[in-house]
Amino acid sequence: MNLVLGIETSCDETSCAVVERGRKILSHLVSSSLEFHKKFGGIIPEAASRYHLEYIIPLLDATLKKAGVEFKDLDGVAVTYTPGLLGALLIGLNVAKAISFSFRIPLIPINHLLAHLYASFMVKDSLPKLPAIGFVISGGHTELFYIKEFNDAELLGKTRDDACGEAFDKVAKILGLGFPGGPFIEKWAKQGKDKIPFKCARLKNSLDFSFSGIKTAVLYYVKKIAPNDKQLTGNEIADICASFQEKIVEVLVEKAQQACIMKRVKSLILGGGVVANTLLRKRMEEMAKKEAIKVFFPPFELCMDNAAMVAGLGYRLYKLEKIKSDYSLEPKPVSEI
Ligand code: KG4
Ligand code: ZN
Repeated sequence: MNLVLGIETSCDETSCAVVERGRKILSHLVSSSLEFHKKFGGIIPEAASRYHLEYIIPLLDATLKKAGVEFKDLDGVAVTYTPGLLGALLIGLNVAKAISFSFRIPLIPINHLLAHLYASFMVKDSLPKLPAIGFVISGGHTELFYIKEFNDAELLGKTRDDACGEAFDKVAKILGLGFPGGPFIEKWAKQGKDKIPFKCARLKNSLDFSFSGIKTAVLYYVKKIAPNDKQLTGNEIADICASFQEKIVEVLVEKAQQACIMKRVKSLILGGGVVANTLLRKRMEEMAKKEAIKVFFPPFELCMDNAAMVAGLGYRLYKLEKIKSDYSLEPKPVSEI
């Protein structure tokens, strides 16, 4: 096993990549349909599937060409089969099955959440040590894992309602900011003060999360200070963003810390779109320093959904155990870990 082709179609990004020995990216292309979905304020699953269908083959050709390889040079094909949108996953999985079957190379099924965490293993100079706590914080997920190895991960906690990024998106919508909401909230928060006492649920004695309460608290607060659809002032928006962001980050850092202490690990690996948040990075670093933990963030270009992390993880999993191609494999919208 040397060259692995990665395919990712779980949400709105169509992506293909060729990766050598799990870490060296020879080529990596992403085509996103996010612009299309923006006007609806969320991803339209049927439209995302149609985009994948239109783009996957040209993208695949371009990826191989850029890497300077042909199908016959590939040693395996890794593909996201869970979790994600059913129709979207189906397209990537079927393309991968066809390549695996035609060129008689192993089909390596990938869990998208673990792929996000593997992204930190593709940084040149630093390699996280296992076991580690893995924390995926994205638009669809808020999950804490104990990772002994990438084929031996245990779910420690997850959201009971909205995903963390989803809460950012919904609050941005309440405030009339754009989609996706995270970057807008972060930008506004920089000009505001954390002075509104919003509360984010802590769920004692559990590593689960709940973000729907704080989202509703923001909604009621806005209704109170701006009744009858009165316009919020810039200062009001900035303070709401700063207060909301602060409370969310506080809980994320607290639970990550608890998980590391509970499992006595010294590595914390973060992944997913919300990890782009500067305050979150800063607070995680501060906590890690205090606890003598090393915290790993994915390289910026691998923070969003991409096939490089999928190919990389495919190589690692195949090295751990020789996976037998299973052409009856179905896409699974909900992760089984
Ligand atoms: O991982 P991702 O690209 O897509 C999936 O959900 O798989 O994550 C997108 C999410 C969105 O909800 C977006 O609002 C959030 O990540 N996000 C952020 C920031 N940048 C993106 N949330 C907070 N602060 C940010 N700077
Ligand atoms: Zn993702």
